[in-house]
Amino acid sequence: MLNRSRRLRTTPALRDLVAETDLRPRHLVQPYFVQHQKGVSEIASLPGIVRSGIHETVQQVEKDLKRGLKSVLIFGVPDAHEKSPDAKGCHDHEGVVPKAVAALKKAFGRDVIVMTDVCLCAYTTSGHCGLSDDEGVILNDETLPLLAEMALRHAEAGADIVAPSDMMDGRVAAMRARLDGAGFTQTAILSYAIKHAGAYYGPFRDAADSSPKFGDRKTYQMDPRNAREGLRDALLDVQEGADMLMVKPALPNLDLIWRLREAQLAPICAYHVSSEFSMVKAADRMGWVSGDQLMLEHLIAIRRAGADMVVTYAGREAVEKGWIS
Ligand code: PBG
Ligand code: ZN
Repeated sequence: MLNRSRRLRTTPALRDLVAETDLRPRHLVQPYFVQHQKGVSEIASLPGIVRSGIHETVQQVEKDLKRGLKSVLIFGVPDAHEKSPDAKGCHDHEGVVPKAVAALKKAFGRDVIVMTDVCLCAYTTSGHCGLSDDEGVILNDETLPLLAEMALRHAEAGADIVAPSDMMDGRVAAMRARLDGAGFTQTAILSYAIKHAGAYYGPFRDAADSSPKFGDRKTYQMDPRNAREGLRDALLDVQEGADMLMVKPALPNLDLIWRLREAQLAPICAYHVSSEFSMVKAADRMGWVSGDQLMLEHLIAIRRAGADMVVTYAGREAVEKGWIS
């Protein structure tokens, strides 16, 4: 008797019956770049993604919610004059992120899950994710109170989840203590446990105007050659109080998503980052690949590897074009 695996591949219905991976709108998190300035401006290296004013952001979130995209990740794009060596703009009450979060919560309340990026790189003159000294050394412990204060501002405005992406040591503990001390015991922390340094974030830095003005991020973001180090950092983050763990970029780290899943520490969020998205768009424009299909295959691979949720610039397209429902 021949073993016929093809029997269960015969029809779409049969294939659906035995499908092991599910990708639904609830699994996706849509990033937003929010600016003070009214209106929207396009980002050349992230086709279809814009920087938007607060009003326009609320309007877009309303459309996304109707399509089932319930989670947003907010990145602030502050004005140039809000950048400084001490990064104090990051915890300004009038900052663009607290304003946007408050507007979203006022409009949609519990129907929307608001996540915010917590990092200094859009607020330091250096473009680095932490404070730096005269020699250009990125200062760890001096950065922690700023991150904690920034997270608190987001929580006060109504953020459900704060997501530190800076990669300083001890930031989760610092943020948890600050939040709890101010009564925000229910604000969750999604910690970037595994975040590799490298070339994957280029289009994002165009969008957020957050490129480092000197050097690179290798003294704080992880070395892509390492896997065990990331698993250890994930454990430390959970011990410090992280509720969920981020792995980033996603496709180059499917092995780590899988291993983290097996470690069963916390829900896993994978970040399908800017250049993962833009590479597909560019190749599609060249007519070399079928971009829509390829993008969906990316997202399914990330879910199959074990991610509970995926941050992706393709979220809106996935629901609008009916790739998923
Ligand atoms: C801020 C931050 C970055 C990304 C998420 N948060 C940029 C960086 O670390 O340089 C990258 C996201 C993407 O490329 O889509 N620290
Ligand atoms: Zn940063």
